Amino acid sequence: DWNSGNVIAEQVARIREQVGSGRVLSALSGGVDSAVSTALVHEAVGDQLTAVFVDHGLLRKGEREQVEQDYVASTGVRLITVDAREQFLTALSGVSDPEEKRKIIGREFIRSFEKVQSELVAEAAAEGEPIRFLVQGTLYPDVVESGGGTGTANIKSHHNVGGLPEDLQFELVEPLRTLFKDEVRAIGRELGLPEAIVARQPFPGPGLGIRIVGEVTADRLEILRDADAIAREELTKAGLDGEIWQCPVVLLADVRSVGVQGDGRTYGHPIVLRPVSSEDAMTADWTRLPYDVLSKISNRITNEVRDINRVVLDVTSKPPGTIEWE
Ligand code: XMP
Repeated sequence: DWNSGNVIAEQVARIREQVGSGRVLSALSGGVDSAVSTALVHEAVGDQLTAVFVDHGLLRKGEREQVEQDYVASTGVRLITVDAREQFLTALSGVSDPEEKRKIIGREFIRSFEKVQSELVAEAAAEGEPIRFLVQGTLYPDVVESGGGTGTANIKSHHNVGGLPEDLQFELVEPLRTLFKDEVRAIGRELGLPEAIVARQPFPGPGLGIRIVGEVTADRLEILRDADAIAREELTKAGLDGEIWQCPVVLLADVRSVGVQGDGRTYGHPIVLRPVSSEDAMTADWTRLPYDVLSKISNRITNEVRDINRVVLDVTSKPPGTIEWE
C-alpha cells in the first residue's frame, strides 16, 4: 500500500547505493518532476549534488524567481542559473514546425547544459571528485509514451529537461521512473517543497515554445506569457486548480481574425484555452469549466493583452487530440 514516506525512504536508500560518494548534477526546469527528483537526490546525498537551471526564455511568468528563491530556500540545494534566452531565440528563429522546434530546444538545452557541466566537471576533477551522475525527472508515463519498455509508437519526441546526448559520460539517476504525477506531488509535499511548485501543473520541457503555433519570437512569448498568467490567476482564484490536470494556453500566432475593440477594427490573434482533466496525461477529457470563469478569463485576456482579440475553448479529448497543440 502506497505511502509517500516509504517511497522516499526507499528511493533515498537506492540513490545512496547507486551514487556512493560520487558527485551528482541535476537540471531543474521549474516543473514538478525535476524539482522533486532533485529534492529527493539532495535528501539522499546533500551537497554532493549541484543543480543547474537553464533559463531558456520559454518559461511562464514568475517561474525563474520561484526556482531561484523559493525552491532554494526550502531545500538548501546548491543552484547555478544559466541565462540562455538569447541563444534559444536565435536558434528558433524562422522555425514553425513542431517537431523541429522540439528538436532545436532539446539540442540547445543540451548545449547550454553541457557548457556549465564541463566547467563544473573540470572544477570537480581538479578537486579529485569527478561528477559521474545526472538526475532525470522521468516519470512512468514518459517512459511509456516515449516507447521505452512497451514498444508503443513515439507520438511526440519528448524533451525532458536534462535530456542526454548519447555520448555523455554520465550515469542516470531516475528516482521517479515508476511513479505517476500525483505520487510525485505527494512526495514533494512530504519533502517540504513550496506548494507553488508542488501543485504546479505539468509543464512541457520545451515550454511555451510549443504553445506558440508558428515561429517563436520574443514578442510572441511576451504576449503568451501575459495571457497564460491571467488564465492561471483566474483558475486559482476560482478554486479550480484541483479539478484540472493542466490548462495549456496557446497562441495561434499565424492566425488573425477581425475584431472590434476600443476605437475600432482590430486584426489580432486568437488565444486558445485547453483545460483538461486527466489521471496520467495518457488520456484526457476537456474540463467543463464554469461559464463565468471562462468569461472572466476571456474578458481579461482581450482587454489586457495586446494583439489578442479573441479567446477560444478547445473541446477535444485525448485521443484524438493530444494535450499540447504541438
Ligand atoms: P501530450 O501533448 O503528448 O502531452 O498529450 C502529455 C503530457 O506531457 C506533457 N508534455 C511534455 N512533457 N516534455 C515534457 O516533459 C515534453 O516534450 C512534453 N510534451 C508534452 C504535456 O504537457 C502533458 O502533460
